[in-house]
Amino acid sequence: MESMEGWARTWREAVEAWIAADMDREEAPGGRIHEAMRYSLTAGGKRLRPLLVLAAGRYVGIPEVVLRPWALAVEYIHTYSLIHDDLPAMDNDDFRRGRPTSHRVFGEAMAILAGDALLTEAFLCLGAATEAPFLPERILATIRELAWAAGSQGLIAGQVADLGAQLEGATLSTVEAIHARKTGRLITAAVVMPALLAGDQEAQARLRRYGEHFGLAFQIVDDILNVVGDAQRLGKATGSDAALGKVTYPALVGVDQSRRWAEHHRQQALAAVGESREADALRYLLDQAVVRER
Ligand code: IPE
Ligand code: IPE
Ligand code: MG
Ligand code: MG
Repeated sequence: MESMEGWARTWREAVEAWIAADMDREEAPGGRIHEAMRYSLTAGGKRLRPLLVLAAGRYVGIPEVVLRPWALAVEYIHTYSLIHDDLPAMDNDDFRRGRPTSHRVFGEAMAILAGDALLTEAFLCLGAATEAPFLPERILATIRELAWAAGSQGLIAGQVADLGAQLEGATLSTVEAIHARKTGRLITAAVVMPALLAGDQEAQARLRRYGEHFGLAFQIVDDILNVVGDAQRLGKATGSDAALGKVTYPALVGVDQSRRWAEHHRQQALAAVGESREADALRYLLDQAVVRER
């Protein structure tokens, strides 16, 4: 059997090459804006979301290469969300992906614009998705899913809730609602999109469940790493959630109980896709997401 580590390495490299090819096209007259976009995009993210798109493709029988525009679109939206998340008006962070944050290098105005440009780039990229052999109505439904996940009912709703949340009076359902939106929605879209393209309704329901639980497990681990992780290895600051009074799992139930919640959601995600061979990459990425140190 193909090793899943090998699969992930191969396709992570492919994603890197796809991003590089896209960014080479984005040359002057924009100049500095393209430099800023490239700076954040090539800083060495884990590429988890594009790999999730490709893994879900395996699950529904769509070859990896066909999913290129979808995988890239999700990574562009994710990277924009990180640039804006780090801004002084939001989490005010100085490090990301092992480098000074965009606003630290290019200034706030350019960081805002680089985020705007990456969000737009995602949908520009989906223009190329029409070359693939999918019915136009499926492509439209898939674009709608992605836009919904990234928008004011999804990731943005989560960011708004994250910024406004007070620890006093917060419960597990408060934090679950934040995490499901700010992190879970985009991850869920990543895995649901291939099922929408394939027109496979049963897979769509299973992948939605997988994505929702994956997103929660992933963000709980992000919360835990902010407490016990190594900043050098993470490529971003630790201790910042507590300093900002963020509503997180460790703040509410402690690190040990948070680990149990992450494991609970891993199990639920696993149950959603089952033991079949088609789900091999989905299972691999799920395990990686929970045991990770960065
Ligand atoms: C960080 O996401 C932000 C969260 C939603 C937790 P990742 O941990 O996937 O960040 P990169 O892409 O590897 O930098
Ligand atoms: C990031 O959440 C979520 C989005 C960018 C949408 P956090 O603020 O908790 O993530 P990190 O720890 O800065 O990566
Ligand atoms: Mg944040
Ligand atoms: Mg943050």
